[in-house]
Amino acid sequence: MSFEEDFRSLARRLTREARITVLTGAGVSAASGVPTFRGPGGLWKDFRPEELATPEAFAKDPQTVWEWYDWRRQKIAGAAPNRAHEVLAAWSRRFPGFALVTQNVDGLHERAGTANVTRFHGSLWEVACSAKCRPSSWPDDTVPFPRLPPPCPSCGANLRPAVVWFGEAIPAAALASAERALDCDVCLIVGTSSVVYPAAGLALEARRRGAFTVEINPEATPASGAVDLALPGRAEEILDDLEDLLAS
Ligand code: APR
Repeated sequence: MSFEEDFRSLARRLTREARITVLTGAGVSAASGVPTFRGPGGLWKDFRPEELATPEAFAKDPQTVWEWYDWRRQKIAGAAPNRAHEVLAAWSRRFPGFALVTQNVDGLHERAGTANVTRFHGSLWEVACSAKCRPSSWPDDTVPFPRLPPPCPSCGANLRPAVVWFGEAIPAAALASAERALDCDVCLIVGTSSVVYPAAGLALEARRRGAFTVEINPEATPASGAVDLALPGRAEEILDDLEDLLAS
């Protein structure tokens, strides 16, 4: 089938009756000026994940870790959701069976008004007490923090960003919510390099359960050969074209 025919057949599957799950990664926020991790100019080109995004790094040098996270918060606070976020937000309101599972911690899906978002890797806009004086994280959008590391308001210990670091488990609630979302008719994998597990295994599990799987990415990934349809392109353009087709 031609790209055009593939595109139209995908659009025919996006109905109010369908269970539609969208898995997203950093590529969805690229058009908002938020650097990806592994793409050109990606964060991991300049920084070593093991030096910034692990519990060990935080224990060893919380100052440097927080300087990096505070820099990212400032950058994202200055960014805005792009067309990809907008289309997915519209779908979350239009399709009763819609679910979005994101690896992104930037909060741009939520800022676009997307309903039913599972934050698989947590959020940059939540903090937690590193001494666990409080059982769970809480929202904090202070930009920039006046003091780094920011102190816990209850016990004075360092706060930590409520994101999932390498070597840490996915929060049980997020895992359970993502698990439920894998029982779907259509599963779109948008803007992820599909190399970080367990997130990278979700699409194939959805396919194993019978979902029609579609990858949207300008570059090939390890998932490209395993999905039903790979659409090479940018999320903000392909989702916009899909939305035009759905509206026509
Ligand atoms: N539209 C769609 N995809 C895009 C776009 C775009 N406009 N621009 C770039 N991409 C693709 C790249 O080709 C790449 O495959 O987005 C992907 C981004 O991959 P990564 O930078 O590896 O980001 P991601 O897959 O989200 O990383 C997974 O790794 O570092 C950890 O916890 C972090 O959640 C993150 C996880």
